[in-house]
Amino acid sequence: MKTPPKTYHVKSFGCQMNVYDGERMGELMAAEGLSATDDAAAADLVVLNTCHIREKATEKVYSDIGRLRKNAAAEGRSPMIAVAGCVAQAEGAEIVRRAGVDVVVGPQAYHNLPALVAKAAVGEAALDTDMPAESKFGALPARRRVAPSAFLTVQEGCDKFCTYCVVPYTRGAEVSRPFAAIVDEAKALVDAGAREITLLGQNVNGWRDGEGRGLELLIAALDRIEGLRRIRYTTSHPNDMTDGLIAAHADIETLMPFLHLPVQAGSDRVLKAMNRSHTRDSYLRLIERIRTARPDIALSGDFIVGFPGESDAEFDETLRLVDAVGYAQAFSFKYSPRPGTPAADMAGQVPPDVMDDRLQRLQAALNRDQAAFNAASVGRQCAVLIERRGKLAGQMLGKSPWLQSVHLMTDAAIGDIVEVALVQAGPNSLAGVERLRQAA
Ligand code: 5AD
Ligand code: SF4
Repeated sequence: MKTPPKTYHVKSFGCQMNVYDGERMGELMAAEGLSATDDAAAADLVVLNTCHIREKATEKVYSDIGRLRKNAAAEGRSPMIAVAGCVAQAEGAEIVRRAGVDVVVGPQAYHNLPALVAKAAVGEAALDTDMPAESKFGALPARRRVAPSAFLTVQEGCDKFCTYCVVPYTRGAEVSRPFAAIVDEAKALVDAGAREITLLGQNVNGWRDGEGRGLELLIAALDRIEGLRRIRYTTSHPNDMTDGLIAAHADIETLMPFLHLPVQAGSDRVLKAMNRSHTRDSYLRLIERIRTARPDIALSGDFIVGFPGESDAEFDETLRLVDAVGYAQAFSFKYSPRPGTPAADMAGQVPPDVMDDRLQRLQAALNRDQAAFNAASVGRQCAVLIERRGKLAGQMLGKSPWLQSVHLMTDAAIGDIVEVALVQAGPNSLAGVERLRQAA
């Protein structure tokens, strides 16, 4: 038996969709009358919203639970612990056995969190990893006050089955939320303070409405919402970059010139073994078409080094692809075998020291290109959406259209859009000087 919690703390790991889900779980608990606390060790209920994408991310959950218990015990407390997210989905009751947590709830079932917490409070088993046909979204409370840059999940799940990836198993099959529900939520976000919305989906450009129309239709509708100044979307699969969506980058001014388009590897043999269903050439041709539509677009990507069987020569093809594209930023990872995925059983698992070496070389190339992209921005003038205060008095931080962090001295408020001259570049951010301001 535990006393019903009065305060809660949600900690999200992993992707932006988890950040979105974490916010929505917070809204659910607030609607139940609980209040939020920033200090996990002081909360009556701690929700760990977990990521299963790589082994490291998964192991982190167990060490976090241990640390949390220890810190709380030092203060004579024993908080209720709920494990949500993709580890909850993948490991289910195993988490209860291994870590004795109170609640386990999967990413498609978290609208039931209040009921599960009530069950746990009376000592009942509280586990829900169902993937119900009826979507959770209808059962979630209204959006509260949000930051100027907000996330909005429009699509979930994945049918692509890349051979390394757990997402089809943890998030389920591809499902698009209905057009009207998304437009309503976007309007609510703008009313709650959002000026920029990033549309989220594991395969966001696979979004389709009931009649099979694609993401550009949704973006065009959001473009008409008064007060919404910027639209972004992530993550996209190369095979779902349609002509219509590419054209939207040329035609829709609020659609920001930034695209996260993971390629994962540069060798056709590796891409095939990954079941990526695109080739190095088809990807490069696609990039060309996107750049023709929107010449200043900033490109981002994801890479995996050391996929089973990857040879030195094949890895070199990844480096050459990076040279050919010139990414503005990118994420790169060592391959991590995930239980239940086809690649985990493939021959030719790459030794850790080889992976380390490849990751270092790849990251050196990506950092070089990011620094070059930032350096090339110096001298440009652009709009910056102010998101938070900087370290120095009078300094504010925001984002350029190309998703670069920009710091500047200004008395503009959070949520304002400031016209800025970019005057200096560092590896991870730019310095700007204010020109003009539009109030939020
Ligand atoms: N090992 C390493 N990286 C992975 N990713 C997905 N699965 C794995 C894995 N098993 C990376 C991919 C993906 C990003 C979200 O995480 O690059 O695009
Ligand atoms: Fe991690 Fe993928 Fe789940 Fe996001 S969807 S939390 S990246 S496993």
